[in-house]
Amino acid sequence: MRHDHLLTAKQLSREDIETVLDRAAEVDANPASFGERHAGRLLGLCFYEPSTRTKMSFEASMKRLGGDVVDMGSVESSSVKKGESLADTIRVVSGYADALVLRHPLMGAAKMASEFVDVPLVNAGDGAGHHPTQTLLDLYTIRENAGLDDLTIGIMGDLKYGRTVHSLANALTNFDVRQHFVSPESLKLPRSVRYDLHEAGATVREHTELDDVLPELDVLYVTRIQRERFPDENEYQRVAGEYQIDEATLAAARDDLTVLHPLPRVDEIAPEVDETDHAKYFEQAHNGVPVRMALLDLLLEGDA
Ligand code: NCD
Repeated sequence: MRHDHLLTAKQLSREDIETVLDRAAEVDANPASFGERHAGRLLGLCFYEPSTRTKMSFEASMKRLGGDVVDMGSVESSSVKKGESLADTIRVVSGYADALVLRHPLMGAAKMASEFVDVPLVNAGDGAGHHPTQTLLDLYTIRENAGLDDLTIGIMGDLKYGRTVHSLANALTNFDVRQHFVSPESLKLPRSVRYDLHEAGATVREHTELDDVLPELDVLYVTRIQRERFPDENEYQRVAGEYQIDEATLAAARDDLTVLHPLPRVDEIAPEVDETDHAKYFEQAHNGVPVRMALLDLLLEGDA
């Protein structure tokens, strides 16, 4: 890949994306051949926000490449508690590892941190900003289930604060995709993302009702309302529980609709949907390992 750091999905060209997805497919086909590729190398994990999938799949990926991780641990048990700045922590940890993964509650944190390090830094979520590695595994799952060209996708839920949405919407502009955004008025896409999509010439429509578009969709990408990002709990309560899907909702969908969700879900997808052929969100989460293995392999092979 051309880039030292992966900060937003905006920096990824179609060729970059295909390079990662093709490498991930190689990993899937023959994981053992990657088993010793990065033996002796270390990945630094700095997670300032909760994470299950992203952190554990990065750790699993590095170990499956023959490497290991050094983990800052929780904010509570680190020197962040003593008042250390992000820049200082990142500068120090970058000396312990060959690449870094950062998740932080503030938008722009990864970009700022990247200015203090000379190893590759990967943004694993910066507040309501971006989450480009989630996007790569989303794209991998979409490519496997529906293909990435001549695709109609619905992206539903918290489009305002959902960083996975911002990154996915940007990345999809590299492909022949019609994007339909479904949300309450108060959680529409931020103006900046709408601007990016417009600049990229994307085909985009916005809706408040899923019914208006569901029958057309190849993929429905459902997201959690990002409760922790609401400045006011009352605001959250006003929209909580809207935009849920169950088997009855999906009766109007095409038989081959693929339903995705970056997880964790709260109540957006009823558990009964898990048993249908539409549900691909656990497969999507599992794809986090081959896709992150592919990404780390590409980021580390340049200076192997
Ligand atoms: C997402 C995130 O952290 O943005 N989770 C994930 O990485 N799979 C989505 C979310 O928290 O809703």
